[in-house]
Amino acid sequence: MGKSITIQGNEYLFKGHVEIPADKSISHRAVILSSLNSTETIINNILFSEDISSTISCFQKMGVDFIYSDNKLIVKSKGASNFSEAKSVLDCGNSGTTARLLSGILVGQNFSSILDGDNSLRRRPMKRIEEPLRTMKADISTNNGCLPIEIKPSSLQGGEFNLNLGSAQVKSAILFAGLYAEGETKFRDRKRSRNHTEIMLANFTENIVVNEETITIRPNLKINLKEMTIPSDPSSAAFFIVASLISKNTELHIKNVCLNPMRIHFIDILKKMGGEIEISNVTLKDGEQVGDITSKSSTLSAIDIDEASIPSLIDEIPILSLACTLAEGESTISGADELRFKESDRIKSIVTELKKFGCNINETENGIRIVGKEGLLAANCDSHGDHRIAMMAAIAGTKASGDTTIKNIECVSISFPNFFELLRGFEKK
Ligand code: S3P
Repeated sequence: MGKSITIQGNEYLFKGHVEIPADKSISHRAVILSSLNSTETIINNILFSEDISSTISCFQKMGVDFIYSDNKLIVKSKGASNFSEAKSVLDCGNSGTTARLLSGILVGQNFSSILDGDNSLRRRPMKRIEEPLRTMKADISTNNGCLPIEIKPSSLQGGEFNLNLGSAQVKSAILFAGLYAEGETKFRDRKRSRNHTEIMLANFTENIVVNEETITIRPNLKINLKEMTIPSDPSSAAFFIVASLISKNTELHIKNVCLNPMRIHFIDILKKMGGEIEISNVTLKDGEQVGDITSKSSTLSAIDIDEASIPSLIDEIPILSLACTLAEGESTISGADELRFKESDRIKSIVTELKKFGCNINETENGIRIVGKEGLLAANCDSHGDHRIAMMAAIAGTKASGDTTIKNIECVSISFPNFFELLRGFEKK
């Protein structure tokens, strides 16, 4: 039986500071780049969550040492072409980022590997990396487009890719394979996606050129990375930001958040809805914009979110949907089919769970329609094994008219292990 929690409605006051854990996407990439690096790397403020542990344990199986000391992760590797063959299957757990990004590295190795994951990850599409990597002459096969993935040694060739998918994981797999391939790899996607991989590669390696439309990468296994610090995760911050907007008498401060424009489009959307959110102290750290966020109680109005915005909002749709249920008017989210391929079918799980709070919310073919109203009923929720659904339901619970229970909450450890502890910190004294 999974763990459950009860949240008392209207017993929370979102006032003060909250320290959000490190960014999940940047943490994965920091572990990967440090593992490709043949000199010691120090990563400050890495996220310790289940997804990141999956990436770390895959590299441990290939001979990389990780030492945690003094709040720093020290990575000691022999470098990008000196990994050893794993003695068993590389277990990616629940992490799509681990499976897809690692595939891009493993196709460049002179040994075979098998990647697998939990039941949820086994349902997620892997053809999207299999096909482009095969174009690069990788010897990679999936199980009918899903895990397990089997990879054998091959001579990789660069290639030219023109996609219309908007997936940072697919882009990253291709770019990592490009480091090992002969010749040039050119990548274009009509839909832009989060750009942490290219930012890190441009910052810590040579032979990558990034411009508006195209990323061009040439083979290069030399990484110049000694130390980096990871900012807080805006996707995790989003839960507390929305909590402060939808409740009365709030003022919330969050420091050192990653403000990469491809990650904070949800702030633009919330501001358009009437959300009082301010950004300050913006600086550039390790190529990423970082700064502070303040948010306050607000009166929200409806919004239309279309296909073009989805890649830059993909992880925030659950919590934005909750904001829409309390906004005045009818909101629509469209062109969001990608949500069906996340840790759960998020269109279904968002609608199912928010309906339990009495919300007027319905599935459309490729999105969600929400008619806002005041107040939420108490509900009996299920996470659907999806961390972002569990956290959405918990924030909804803080606004409900009674006690809300949420079943199967252990999945929050995927991205935000201390979420409930931080939430408890806002209980009214
Ligand atoms: C991620 C990319 C996104 C996102 C996921 C993390 C990444 O997935 O939803 O949580 O770190 O590259 P897609 O690339 O499949 O959209």
